[in-house]
Amino acid sequence: MQNAGLAALGLNWRYLAFEVRPEDLPAALAGAARLGFVGLNLTVPHKLLAFSLVEELDASAREWGAVNTVLFEGLGSDGSWRRLWELPGAPERVRSRGFNTDADAISRAIREELKVELRGARVLMLGAGGAGRAAALKLAAEGGSTLWLVNRTQGKADDLAKEIRAKFAGVETAVGYPTGKIDLVVNGTSLGLKPGDALPLDTARFPLSNAGAVYDMIYRPARTPLLDAAAKAGCRTANGLGMLLHQGTRALEIWTGQAAPVAEMRKALEGAVYA
Ligand code: ATR
Repeated sequence: MQNAGLAALGLNWRYLAFEVRPEDLPAALAGAARLGFVGLNLTVPHKLLAFSLVEELDASAREWGAVNTVLFEGLGSDGSWRRLWELPGAPERVRSRGFNTDADAISRAIREELKVELRGARVLMLGAGGAGRAAALKLAAEGGSTLWLVNRTQGKADDLAKEIRAKFAGVETAVGYPTGKIDLVVNGTSLGLKPGDALPLDTARFPLSNAGAVYDMIYRPARTPLLDAAAKAGCRTANGLGMLLHQGTRALEIWTGQAAPVAEMRKALEGAVYA
Protein backbone atom coordinates (compact mmCIF):
# COMPACT_ATOMS: atom_id res chain seq x y z
CA MET A 1 0.00 0.00 0.00
CA GLN A 2 2.67 2.52 1.00
CA ASN A 3 5.01 1.60 -1.86
CA ALA A 4 2.11 1.99 -4.33
CA GLY A 5 1.39 5.38 -2.79
CA LEU A 6 5.04 6.44 -3.06
CA ALA A 7 5.19 5.30 -6.69
CA ALA A 8 2.00 7.22 -7.54
CA LEU A 9 3.52 10.36 -5.98
CA GLY A 10 6.71 9.82 -8.02
CA LEU A 11 8.87 9.60 -4.91
CA ASN A 12 12.10 7.61 -4.95
CA TRP A 13 11.42 6.28 -1.43
CA ARG A 14 10.83 2.78 -0.10
CA TYR A 15 8.64 1.47 2.71
CA LEU A 16 10.28 -1.52 4.41
CA ALA A 17 9.40 -3.82 7.31
CA PHE A 18 11.83 -4.36 10.17
CA GLU A 19 11.38 -6.65 13.14
CA VAL A 20 12.55 -4.92 16.32
CA ARG A 21 12.50 -6.33 19.84
CA PRO A 22 10.67 -4.04 22.26
CA GLU A 23 13.81 -3.55 24.36
CA ASP A 24 15.64 -2.35 21.24
CA LEU A 25 13.04 0.24 20.25
CA PRO A 26 14.94 3.27 21.67
CA ALA A 27 18.06 2.32 19.71
CA ALA A 28 16.03 1.55 16.57
CA LEU A 29 14.28 4.94 16.67
CA ALA A 30 17.54 6.80 17.26
CA GLY A 31 19.23 4.81 14.49
CA ALA A 32 16.42 5.45 11.99
CA ALA A 33 16.64 9.19 12.73
CA ARG A 34 20.40 9.23 12.20
CA LEU A 35 20.12 7.16 9.03
CA GLY A 36 17.90 9.90 7.63
CA PHE A 37 14.65 7.92 7.55
CA VAL A 38 11.63 10.01 6.56
CA GLY A 39 9.56 8.37 9.28
CA LEU A 40 8.06 5.05 10.24
CA ASN A 41 5.03 3.15 11.46
CA LEU A 42 4.87 1.05 14.59
CA THR A 43 2.66 -1.86 15.49
CA VAL A 44 1.89 -3.64 18.76
CA PRO A 45 3.49 -3.58 21.30
CA HIS A 46 5.61 -0.68 20.06
CA LYS A 47 2.70 1.78 19.75
CA LEU A 48 2.48 2.20 23.52
CA LEU A 49 6.25 2.10 24.11
CA ALA A 50 6.90 4.81 21.51
CA PHE A 51 4.55 7.16 23.32
CA SER A 52 7.21 7.80 25.96
CA LEU A 53 10.16 7.55 23.56
CA VAL A 54 9.42 10.17 20.90
CA GLU A 55 10.62 13.70 21.57
CA GLU A 56 7.48 15.49 20.39
CA LEU A 57 3.87 14.31 20.57
CA ASP A 58 1.21 15.45 18.13
CA ALA A 59 -2.23 16.11 19.66
CA SER A 60 -3.53 12.90 18.00
CA ALA A 61 -0.97 10.80 19.88
CA ARG A 62 -1.59 12.60 23.16
CA GLU A 63 -5.33 12.07 22.85
CA TRP A 64 -5.03 8.31 22.22
CA GLY A 65 -1.98 7.57 24.37
CA ALA A 66 -0.34 5.64 21.55
CA VAL A 67 1.96 6.36 18.60
CA ASN A 68 1.61 4.45 15.33
CA THR A 69 3.35 6.99 13.06
CA VAL A 70 6.67 8.79 13.54
CA LEU A 71 7.99 11.70 11.50
CA PHE A 72 11.68 12.62 11.79
CA GLU A 73 12.47 16.32 11.85
CA GLY A 74 15.73 18.25 11.62
CA LEU A 75 16.73 21.70 12.79
CA GLY A 76 17.32 23.89 9.75
CA SER A 77 19.93 26.64 9.48
CA ASP A 78 17.11 29.18 9.91
CA GLY A 79 16.38 27.75 13.38
CA SER A 80 13.08 26.06 12.46
CA TRP A 81 12.25 22.35 12.64
CA ARG A 82 11.42 20.84 9.25
CA ARG A 83 10.81 17.38 7.85
CA LEU A 84 14.24 15.76 7.92
CA TRP A 85 14.04 14.78 4.25
CA GLU A 86 13.43 18.40 3.23
CA LEU A 87 16.77 19.53 4.70
CA PRO A 88 20.07 19.21 2.82
CA GLY A 89 22.75 16.95 4.29
CA ALA A 90 22.53 15.47 7.78
CA PRO A 91 21.52 18.15 10.30
CA GLU A 92 23.25 18.22 13.68
CA ARG A 93 19.95 18.09 15.56
CA VAL A 94 17.21 15.62 14.70
CA ARG A 95 14.09 14.66 16.64
CA SER A 96 11.11 12.33 16.37
CA ARG A 97 7.48 13.46 16.37
CA GLY A 98 4.79 10.90 17.20
CA PHE A 99 1.28 10.81 15.72
CA ASN A 100 -1.70 8.49 15.97
CA THR A 101 -3.55 7.88 12.70
CA ASP A 102 -5.56 4.84 13.87
CA ALA A 103 -8.42 6.63 15.59
CA ASP A 104 -9.25 9.00 12.72
CA ALA A 105 -9.14 6.05 10.33
CA ILE A 106 -12.04 4.39 12.18
CA SER A 107 -14.43 7.30 11.74
CA ARG A 108 -13.26 8.11 8.20
CA ALA A 109 -13.79 4.51 7.06
CA ILE A 110 -17.26 4.31 8.66
CA ARG A 111 -18.32 7.64 7.16
CA GLU A 112 -17.01 6.92 3.68
CA GLU A 113 -18.07 3.30 3.35
CA LEU A 114 -21.35 3.23 5.25
CA LYS A 115 -22.50 6.86 4.84
CA VAL A 116 -23.31 7.01 8.55
CA GLU A 117 -23.51 10.49 10.12
CA LEU A 118 -21.60 9.91 13.35
CA ARG A 119 -22.76 13.11 15.05
CA GLY A 120 -25.93 12.13 16.87
CA ALA A 121 -25.59 8.46 15.91
CA ARG A 122 -27.02 5.61 17.99
CA VAL A 123 -24.37 2.87 18.03
CA LEU A 124 -24.03 -0.66 19.40
CA MET A 125 -20.35 -1.36 20.08
CA LEU A 126 -19.36 -5.02 20.38
CA GLY A 127 -16.10 -5.62 22.26
CA ALA A 128 -14.27 -3.67 24.93
CA GLY A 129 -10.70 -4.90 24.30
CA GLY A 130 -7.98 -2.80 22.70
CA ALA A 131 -9.72 -2.30 19.34
CA GLY A 132 -13.23 -1.98 20.79
CA ARG A 133 -12.17 0.58 23.38
CA ALA A 134 -10.44 2.78 20.79
CA ALA A 135 -13.46 2.62 18.46
CA ALA A 136 -15.96 3.38 21.24
CA LEU A 137 -13.94 6.39 22.42
CA LYS A 138 -13.61 7.67 18.86
CA LEU A 139 -17.36 7.30 18.22
CA ALA A 140 -18.03 9.22 21.44
CA ALA A 141 -15.50 11.91 20.42
CA GLU A 142 -17.33 12.25 17.09
CA GLY A 143 -20.48 13.22 18.97
CA GLY A 144 -22.50 10.02 18.91
CA SER A 145 -25.74 10.44 20.87
CA THR A 146 -26.03 6.99 22.47
CA LEU A 147 -23.52 4.16 22.78
CA TRP A 148 -24.50 0.66 23.88
CA LEU A 149 -21.56 -1.50 24.93
CA VAL A 150 -21.63 -5.30 24.86
CA ASN A 151 -18.66 -7.46 25.82
CA ARG A 152 -18.24 -11.09 26.87
CA THR A 153 -16.56 -9.93 30.07
CA GLN A 154 -19.10 -7.41 31.30
CA GLY A 155 -16.71 -5.75 33.75
CA LYS A 156 -14.65 -4.43 30.83
CA ALA A 157 -17.77 -2.90 29.25
CA ASP A 158 -18.63 -1.32 32.63
CA ASP A 159 -15.13 0.20 32.89
CA LEU A 160 -15.30 1.51 29.33
CA ALA A 161 -18.74 3.02 29.95
CA LYS A 162 -17.32 4.82 33.00
CA GLU A 163 -14.38 6.13 30.98
CA ILE A 164 -16.67 7.43 28.21
CA ARG A 165 -19.03 9.10 30.70
CA ALA A 166 -16.06 10.85 32.35
CA LYS A 167 -14.62 12.10 29.06
CA PHE A 168 -17.75 12.78 27.00
CA ALA A 169 -20.57 14.06 29.17
CA GLY A 170 -22.86 14.60 26.17
CA VAL A 171 -22.88 10.96 25.14
CA GLU A 172 -25.44 8.62 26.66
CA THR A 173 -23.69 5.34 27.48
CA ALA A 174 -25.29 2.03 28.47
CA VAL A 175 -24.04 -1.52 28.95
CA GLY A 176 -26.26 -4.00 27.13
CA TYR A 177 -28.41 -4.19 23.99
CA PRO A 178 -30.53 -1.36 22.59
CA THR A 179 -34.23 -1.69 21.90
CA GLY A 180 -35.58 -0.27 18.66
CA LYS A 181 -33.74 1.08 15.63
CA ILE A 182 -30.14 2.22 15.71
CA ASP A 183 -27.77 3.66 13.10
CA LEU A 184 -24.73 1.45 13.44
CA VAL A 185 -23.30 -1.77 14.90
CA VAL A 186 -19.49 -2.00 15.15
CA ASN A 187 -17.71 -5.28 15.82
CA GLY A 188 -14.45 -4.77 17.71
CA THR A 189 -14.22 -8.33 19.04
CA SER A 190 -12.07 -11.03 17.47
CA LEU A 191 -15.13 -13.19 16.71
CA GLY A 192 -15.22 -13.81 12.96
CA LEU A 193 -11.47 -14.16 12.48
CA LYS A 194 -11.61 -17.96 12.63
CA PRO A 195 -13.86 -20.21 10.52
CA GLY A 196 -16.82 -21.41 12.57
CA ASP A 197 -16.73 -18.49 15.02
CA ALA A 198 -20.08 -17.55 16.54
CA LEU A 199 -21.66 -14.16 15.85
CA PRO A 200 -20.31 -11.47 18.20
CA LEU A 201 -23.85 -10.56 19.30
CA ASP A 202 -27.05 -12.27 20.41
CA THR A 203 -29.52 -11.71 17.57
CA ALA A 204 -32.38 -12.90 19.80
CA ARG A 205 -31.75 -9.81 21.92
CA PHE A 206 -30.86 -7.48 19.06
CA PRO A 207 -32.13 -8.39 15.56
CA LEU A 208 -29.76 -7.02 12.92
CA SER A 209 -32.75 -5.71 10.95
CA ASN A 210 -32.89 -2.99 13.65
CA ALA A 211 -29.52 -1.62 12.48
CA GLY A 212 -29.02 0.68 9.50
CA ALA A 213 -25.38 -0.32 9.01
CA VAL A 214 -22.84 -2.82 10.32
CA TYR A 215 -19.08 -2.26 10.42
CA ASP A 216 -16.78 -5.19 11.17
CA MET A 217 -13.26 -4.13 12.17
CA ILE A 218 -12.08 -7.54 10.90
CA TYR A 219 -10.89 -7.45 7.26
CA ARG A 220 -9.66 -11.03 6.86
CA PRO A 221 -11.88 -12.86 5.99
CA ALA A 222 -13.44 -10.14 3.85
CA ARG A 223 -16.96 -11.31 4.74
CA THR A 224 -17.40 -12.49 8.31
CA PRO A 225 -20.54 -14.37 9.45
CA LEU A 226 -21.64 -11.06 11.01
CA LEU A 227 -21.37 -9.19 7.70
CA ASP A 228 -23.23 -12.02 5.91
CA ALA A 229 -26.04 -11.96 8.46
CA ALA A 230 -26.17 -8.15 8.35
CA ALA A 231 -26.39 -8.07 4.55
CA LYS A 232 -29.22 -10.64 4.69
CA ALA A 233 -31.01 -8.45 7.23
CA GLY A 234 -30.83 -5.51 4.80
CA CYS A 235 -28.05 -3.51 6.53
CA ARG A 236 -25.32 -1.59 4.71
CA THR A 237 -22.03 -3.38 5.50
CA ALA A 238 -18.28 -2.77 5.37
CA ASN A 239 -15.23 -4.61 6.69
CA GLY A 240 -12.16 -3.21 8.44
CA LEU A 241 -9.96 -2.81 5.37
CA GLY A 242 -10.83 0.89 5.16
CA MET A 243 -9.39 1.42 8.64
CA LEU A 244 -6.11 -0.20 7.64
CA LEU A 245 -6.12 1.89 4.45
CA HIS A 246 -6.75 5.22 6.12
CA GLN A 247 -4.28 4.88 8.99
CA GLY A 248 -1.82 4.43 6.12
CA THR A 249 -3.03 7.23 3.84
CA ARG A 250 -2.85 9.69 6.74
CA ALA A 251 0.66 8.51 7.66
CA LEU A 252 1.80 9.07 4.07
CA GLU A 253 0.37 12.60 4.19
CA ILE A 254 2.27 13.31 7.42
CA TRP A 255 5.55 12.13 5.90
CA THR A 256 5.20 13.78 2.49
CA GLY A 257 3.04 16.84 3.15
CA GLN A 258 1.03 15.83 0.05
CA ALA A 259 -2.47 14.39 -0.41
CA ALA A 260 -2.31 10.59 -0.47
CA PRO A 261 -3.17 8.78 -3.72
CA VAL A 262 -5.99 6.89 -2.02
CA ALA A 263 -7.28 4.91 -5.03
CA GLU A 264 -3.84 3.49 -5.87
CA MET A 265 -3.18 2.64 -2.24
CA ARG A 266 -6.55 0.92 -1.86
CA LYS A 267 -5.94 -1.17 -4.98
CA ALA A 268 -2.51 -2.28 -3.75
CA LEU A 269 -3.87 -3.08 -0.29
CA GLU A 270 -6.75 -5.14 -1.66
CA GLY A 271 -4.32 -6.99 -3.92
CA ALA A 272 -1.99 -7.77 -1.02
CA VAL A 273 -4.68 -8.81 1.46
CA TYR A 274 -7.09 -10.71 -0.79
CA ALA A 275 -4.91 -12.01 -3.65
P1 ATR B 1 -7.79 -6.43 20.39
O1 ATR B 1 -6.60 -5.63 20.83
O2 ATR B 1 -7.64 -7.03 19.02
O3 ATR B 1 -9.07 -5.70 20.58
P2 ATR B 1 -8.33 -7.86 22.84
O4 ATR B 1 -8.01 -6.63 23.61
O5 ATR B 1 -7.82 -9.17 23.33
O6 ATR B 1 -7.80 -7.73 21.36
O7 ATR B 1 -9.93 -7.93 22.67
C1 ATR B 1 -10.57 -9.00 22.09
C2 ATR B 1 -12.06 -8.75 22.15
O8 ATR B 1 -12.77 -9.87 21.59
C3 ATR B 1 -12.57 -8.62 23.58
O9 ATR B 1 -13.71 -7.78 23.56
C4 ATR B 1 -12.95 -10.07 23.90
O10 ATR B 1 -13.89 -10.22 24.94
P3 ATR B 1 -13.35 -10.31 26.47
O11 ATR B 1 -13.07 -8.91 26.90
O12 ATR B 1 -14.48 -10.94 27.22
O13 ATR B 1 -12.12 -11.16 26.43
C5 ATR B 1 -13.59 -10.47 22.59
N1 ATR B 1 -13.61 -11.92 22.42
C6 ATR B 1 -12.56 -12.70 22.12
N2 ATR B 1 -12.95 -14.00 22.02
C7 ATR B 1 -14.28 -14.03 22.27
C8 ATR B 1 -15.28 -15.06 22.32
N3 ATR B 1 -14.97 -16.33 22.10
N4 ATR B 1 -16.55 -14.70 22.62
C9 ATR B 1 -16.87 -13.41 22.85
N5 ATR B 1 -15.98 -12.39 22.81
C10 ATR B 1 -14.71 -12.70 22.53
